[in-house]
Amino acid sequence: MGDILGIGTTHYPALTRTDEGLSSLWQYIINAPRIDPKWKDRRNWPAGMLDEVGNDMGLSAARRYRARMWTNFRKQRQMIDEFAPDFVVIIADDQYENFKEDIIPPFCVYGLDRDFEQEVWAHGHNAGKDNFWGEPPDLKVTFHGHREGAKYLTSGLINRGVAMPYAYRMLHSPTLAHGFNYTVLYLDLDRRGFLHPIIPFHVNCYGSAVISSRGFAAHLFEEPKQGGLPDPPGPNPALCHEVGAKLAETLAASPYRCVIMASSSWSHCFLSTNTGYVIPDFESDRMMLDALANGDYELWRRRTIEEVEAAGHHELLNWHVLAGAMAALKRKPVIADYVESFIFQSDKCFAVFPPN
Ligand SMILES: [Fe+2]
Repeated sequence: MGDILGIGTTHYPALTRTDEGLSSLWQYIINAPRIDPKWKDRRNWPAGMLDEVGNDMGLSAARRYRARMWTNFRKQRQMIDEFAPDFVVIIADDQYENFKEDIIPPFCVYGLDRDFEQEVWAHGHNAGKDNFWGEPPDLKVTFHGHREGAKYLTSGLINRGVAMPYAYRMLHSPTLAHGFNYTVLYLDLDRRGFLHPIIPFHVNCYGSAVISSRGFAAHLFEEPKQGGLPDPPGPNPALCHEVGAKLAETLAASPYRCVIMASSSWSHCFLSTNTGYVIPDFESDRMMLDALANGDYELWRRRTIEEVEAAGHHELLNWHVLAGAMAALKRKPVIADYVESFIFQSDKCFAVFPPN
């Protein structure tokens, strides 16, 4: 029977940037044409936001923030190294990168080559921007896939009644979507190489917005154009839990030792209609955190897609798959860290679900 370690993490893209880049993104959002102009006047900012902005427009806060994130990633890396898995299933989203108008699957398992090279900085939303490590834009990094594990996992899901798509190579993007790419780059932030094979497990987190928002914040700059009905939603929490439970069943019955890792930040400000797109929905995040810490997976499972979208919890669907898996394994999490922020776009949670 396969041993499983559950982990929840983030792939917050702005950490790839220099400290100056990390501390400037909030201004890009606040100045977007479809943001309520009241946010441009600092007299309307909450006290916590004024604190984070400080007197250097958030640069000192960015340095402190990065230090805290890096501490968490280093601990998670050590945990994975000590667990020594056969592979790491990374549950993350594609934001109009590999999946576009020609196909938007709700989920997809990637069975990739044992060794594959990626130009990690050449594609996607941060292409061409300076990175924290000062690495060249054409840097090639070798990642490791696990096709046999991906075949085993996909077959197990299909045999358990989940119609699971799979892929052996990229469709549109020459690299993995940022959700997978940055997760690995952060777990290897000290650049020792990440030798653990990965099985990327895609979730269509952006749902009806993935095309209209082009996977980020296009809706803040121009009114989304959707003729007729909205585009179909992403998989709802109940479906994510069901798939997560079957994923856990499949891997628990497998010969493999695996990490099941959900990678995403929690409430994203630029997606939250509850808060007007500038700050994350702290209230919803605290409610979800309380439930998770208490092992109340049922509250998670019952969330509607409307609640998910209003809270900017689109990417939390990755964690819903993990929650379904951990509920099936009767695991309770240890919350290693939970970080709220007014100017770094989203709240972050680092959690581990150790074997019983
Ligand atoms: Fe993402």
